[in-house]
Amino acid sequence: MRLRPYEIELVGEVEGRSLLHLQCHFGIDTLSWARLGARVTGADFSPAAIELARSLADELGFPDARFVQANLYDLPDALEGEFDIVYTSRGVLGWLPDVRAWARVVAHFLAPGGTFFITEIHPVVQVFENEGVASGELRLTYPYWEHAEALTFEVKGSYADPAADVGVQTEHGWDHGLGEIVTALIDAGLRIESLIEHPFLAWKADFLVEDPHEVGTWRLPPGSAGELPLMFSLRATKPV
Ligand SMILES: C[S@@+](CC[C@H](N)C(=O)[O-])C[C@H]1O[C@@H](n2cnc3c(N)ncnc32)[C@H](O)[C@@H]1O
Repeated sequence: MRLRPYEIELVGEVEGRSLLHLQCHFGIDTLSWARLGARVTGADFSPAAIELARSLADELGFPDARFVQANLYDLPDALEGEFDIVYTSRGVLGWLPDVRAWARVVAHFLAPGGTFFITEIHPVVQVFENEGVASGELRLTYPYWEHAEALTFEVKGSYADPAADVGVQTEHGWDHGLGEIVTALIDAGLRIESLIEHPFLAWKADFLVEDPHEVGTWRLPPGSAGELPLMFSLRATKPV
């Protein structure tokens, strides 16, 4: 189970409910929701990820888990129906150029009375250089608000496996401010129920240190002056 206890609590009871996982990658979290009793559909635009998700579902004994390969922005043309829960998490918004169009897709798939949940890196963290800096060094480098042109990065390996032998690749990324994300969801017709800012990140950043008591959780170094939100979780509903 890779879902974090806090998100299981914030999403609430999923037993018997339909759940759409946007940008599901190879479906580990999707299948974790299935294990908790949700009727799951995962969607991602990577054919390799969807193929692996389907084989994992077979291997782990979830024959009813459904995986759809489509660009998120085209998903309304590729997938029918409404869902009790739309879920997305950890490293999704930075891939998307247009947060308002994303929010409309979320609202499209949410049944009236349904719940949307996202847990994601806090946009304020994205403004700092993440590589080649010392722990605790916050070097203001990148935009905060949404920008038309993608940022491009030359990276070795992949985010899923930094040691993967895939050569140097060009990655594209976009930023979206917290106000832009929240306003996009409100304008798409959702009602924000809670917005929580967390003092931890679920992956490595060079200016953070790994919590010795919680592997895979990164925080500002102990004794840092001041505070910084590192992730946020937002729960919203679609009015009936
Ligand atoms: C960092 S991963 C999310 C990882 C996931 N939270 C997990 O823990 O496995 C981001 C995913 O978004 C997918 N993605 C990026 N842009 C997309 C788009 N426009 N439409 C659909 N999927 C997209 C990528 O293929 C990738 O699997």
